[in-house]
Amino acid sequence: MQTNHSNGCGCTSRRGFIGFSFGAVAAVGGLFALGAMKKTWDPLPSVRAAGFTTVDLSPLKDGEFSQVEWRKKPIFIVKKSADMKPNDNRDIVIGDGRYMVVIGLCTHLGCIPSWNAANKQFKCACHGGEFDDSGLNTFGPPPRPLDIPPFRIDGTKLVLGETGPEYEKLMAKA
Ligand code: FES
Repeated sequence: MQTNHSNGCGCTSRRGFIGFSFGAVAAVGGLFALGAMKKTWDPLPSVRAAGFTTVDLSPLKDGEFSQVEWRKKPIFIVKKSADMKPNDNRDIVIGDGRYMVVIGLCTHLGCIPSWNAANKQFKCACHGGEFDDSGLNTFGPPPRPLDIPPFRIDGTKLVLGETGPEYEKLMAKA
């Protein structure tokens, strides 16, 4: 007498197939659920865009000043010319170029200083504070140099808002 049902009625293979099908559907469903959850966790594109600002420094000429905005703050950039003093503790070096990159808010009470190209310095109109072309405080009430924003170097571009090894190196010297 035959007692093996799997061969006799095909029950085992049918059960196996049904089990496999349920498993596959559950796995696919799980993947979709994970994808949906990841979308929920990830910051919105607008939030991501607000956090990082990418600036290509290659068009800047020697001695040229440029201002961009990062997280609603002014960022001052100056490409140092040969007659400006290099500052290894603060300059960002990309290829042959040296750049001063600072948050353009006076470290006294937060006014926005202006760049004087002739004197190669920043002057704060609020209380007369002055900073040199490396962002060092040289006169008046500002208690410290202009702050350097976190950055990462990507080729000739600066990604403001990311912390790269070059930024870490500058902060270690500061
Ligand atoms: Fe700039 Fe006071 S806020 S000197």
